[in-house]
Amino acid sequence: MHYQEHGVVQFYDDQPLADDFYTEVIEGLKQSPRKIPPKFFYDAKGSRLFDAICELPEYYQTRTEISLLTQYAEEIASLIGEQCLLIEPGSGSCEKVRYLLDEIQPTAYMPMDISRVHLFGAVQQLSNEYPWLDIHASCMDFTANVKLHFCPPNIHKVAFFPGSSIGNFEPDDAIVFMRHIAQVLGQGGSLLIGVDLKKDEKLLHAAYNDSQDVTAEFNLNLLHRINDELNANFDLEYFQHKALYNEQAGRIEMHLVSTVEQTVTIGEQEFTFRESETIHTENSYKYTVAEFGALAGQAGYKQKKVWRDSSDLFSLHYYEVTD
Ligand code: AVI
Repeated sequence: MHYQEHGVVQFYDDQPLADDFYTEVIEGLKQSPRKIPPKFFYDAKGSRLFDAICELPEYYQTRTEISLLTQYAEEIASLIGEQCLLIEPGSGSCEKVRYLLDEIQPTAYMPMDISRVHLFGAVQQLSNEYPWLDIHASCMDFTANVKLHFCPPNIHKVAFFPGSSIGNFEPDDAIVFMRHIAQVLGQGGSLLIGVDLKKDEKLLHAAYNDSQDVTAEFNLNLLHRINDELNANFDLEYFQHKALYNEQAGRIEMHLVSTVEQTVTIGEQEFTFRESETIHTENSYKYTVAEFGALAGQAGYKQKKVWRDSSDLFSLHYYEVTD
């Protein structure tokens, strides 16, 4: 009889409570200017809309990063060496890791995502395509705390953080987050991270104001989600998507603009918006390679290699933990 060997698939559930969502939304809306953290975009529908953004012709980031991963997978694998634990905070659809798995052949892959439904679907699909792979998936808010539920002793830990998700952190918070990841990785650990580069403002503007309005739907879905989950009554007719490049800060900003004066209730709470008042929903920082290298240095990493495409749109960095 022939037994096909199949990898282990494990799930760990540290999903944040609905209470955390309510508290963070209410606190953010009480601030001036009003804001809501971008991690709340990613319910099941938001995660699907983000996947659709990645396919847009204007959103150069995904295809450029994939072309770098494809072109340099062998080199990346040889820098990593044999037998590693491959950790991916914010793994979404586990799409990009597919370009590395065959080369790296990790001892185990640990995807982590805030959307349980999306993570579950992504892992099922991945384990069908890579039956040999051991997968230990965790549903968690990785921006709060990364916990490893599985960790063989003395294994080389590698964090994979593609998609320039680091751009969604304030630079100081990016340092704090990367330091936390360095602690999780430990001495000798490595970080492979995708970073979107500063470029012509027109390209950036188009990437966040696409002609099919998928980014607008992604942004507005946050209000849908608040209506559905937090008993709110945002009228989506009277809110509009806005994305702009703030050159001084070096970031794309996304906002939801109230087109009229209006009052919205969320549970017991009331919020009155002036006409043109905005909710700031996301920052997406863009860096030069040197700027990002300096940031990573402050977070306790040593740069080993940087790859970028010929048009200087996107970069992929490989670091080792120094202390
Ligand atoms: C996930 N993150 C890196 C995306 C970005 O470009 O900042 C999220 C996004 N927001 C609008 N479009 C894509």
